[in-house]
Amino acid sequence: MARPTLAVILAAGEGTRMKSSLPKVLHAIAGRPMLAHVLASVREAGIDDAAVVVGPGREDVATVAQKDFPGCTVFTQAERKGTGHAVLAARQALLGGKDVIVLYADTPLVRAQSIETLKAALDDGANVAVLGFHAANPTGYGRLIVEDGALTRIVEEKDATPDQKAIGFCNGGLMALRGETSLALLDAIGNANAKGEYYLTDAAEIAHQRGLKAVARPIAEEEVHGVNDRAQLAAAEAMMQVRLRAAAMKEGVTLIAPETVFFSYDTVIGNDVIVEPNCWFGPGVKIESGAVIHAFSHLEGAKVAGGASVGPFARLRPGADLGRDVKVGNFVEIKAAQVEQGAKISHLSYIGDARVGAEANIGAGTITCNYDGYLKHKTDIGAGAFIGSNSALVAPVKVGDNANVGAGSVITRNVAEDALAVARGRQVEIVGWAKRYREVKKAEKASKAKG
Ligand code: UD1
Ligand code: CA
Repeated sequence: MARPTLAVILAAGEGTRMKSSLPKVLHAIAGRPMLAHVLASVREAGIDDAAVVVGPGREDVATVAQKDFPGCTVFTQAERKGTGHAVLAARQALLGGKDVIVLYADTPLVRAQSIETLKAALDDGANVAVLGFHAANPTGYGRLIVEDGALTRIVEEKDATPDQKAIGFCNGGLMALRGETSLALLDAIGNANAKGEYYLTDAAEIAHQRGLKAVARPIAEEEVHGVNDRAQLAAAEAMMQVRLRAAAMKEGVTLIAPETVFFSYDTVIGNDVIVEPNCWFGPGVKIESGAVIHAFSHLEGAKVAGGASVGPFARLRPGADLGRDVKVGNFVEIKAAQVEQGAKISHLSYIGDARVGAEANIGAGTITCNYDGYLKHKTDIGAGAFIGSNSALVAPVKVGDNANVGAGSVITRNVAEDALAVARGRQVEIVGWAKRYREVKKAEKASKAKG
């Protein structure tokens, strides 16, 4: 039987160095707030109870927490008095006596596996467990003092002696506390230290002194990368993208220049998809096996079926739904539109709030005029229809199956199936006009030059 576990996520930081009106933990990486990444890892680790500690007046953070982890409880830390004090803000949740895993919402790269490593340490009988890493630069981190395999103490940078500062084994920040002893240890934490804060990390030393077991388990430094400013946010994004690209390639996706392709946390992409350089996948994109996304395409909230070809320089906005073997070419924007099997929209078009029937051919420069300044309207293009280049389809309007629209038309009324609609000025031809015009103008110019 798995031990019941509560995750406590500290999200009460002020985030001043972000210089942002948005709370730090709501800044996104790979299209999702940092807090939501942490909550996702918690859930992936099999934990179904979470308490989120927020700063005063942070309803916006509470809303995201409750959306991404329904049923979580939100606690307010009225004053920032340290990480130990922040955990105790969730006292009501701690009273249940479950094992506790403490995480920071500004440390978004933590993997579920590492949370499981902490749980396993408790399963092995530890009362306190932390994750340690060998820091490239340990400055600023708490140092882990390990003696004979036991974690005897964590010394914060500001309280460390020069000898302790020389220790390279650092506290990653996550901590697991065994349910039976968690509150007793947390309540014993004082604030007699350089910062005058209640340090969560003191729980290790208190446990050791009481003859309880505290341990440190290894974690990769990357996973505990903390975000305090925009540069660290960008670094976290870069690391997350490396992971997402690696995962896509592992699933059989070809990325010609992986470092130029950006995915969202939820991008679903099938095997044998080829993604050319410089593509962007916003949230909510699903690409089925065998599609090709050509260079410089921007996709968000879109679905692309197998055999389809998108771009180069295509934009698929939310609700774009491309069927099998559809072709969407350069400088085409698609929004809220079903494009059915085999249809082609090859160049320079806007197709919004529309259906394009199977095998229809949409000529270069075709625009669905979906907005009248107040409301959006739908354009329905039948299967096999042929829309001549540079046509404007003024919605609401329907073009029947296998109908033709002459190039340069402005279509304001429905077109019957198999019909031809031409809606443009008739061509007029005046024999010899251009020649006469040239002669008149040349003469005018010559007389001006003389006079
Ligand atoms: C903490 C650890 C340190 C570890 C490092 C890893 C302590 C005392 N030290 O140090 O050992 O190496 O993380 O990054 O825990 N927070 C609150 N309320 C508070 C204080 C903090 O919610 O009153 C939140 C912060 O928003 C942040 C997290 O807790 O997300 C960590 O706090 P921070 O002050 O950054 O701790 P560090 O000094 O980095
Ligand atoms: Ca920190």
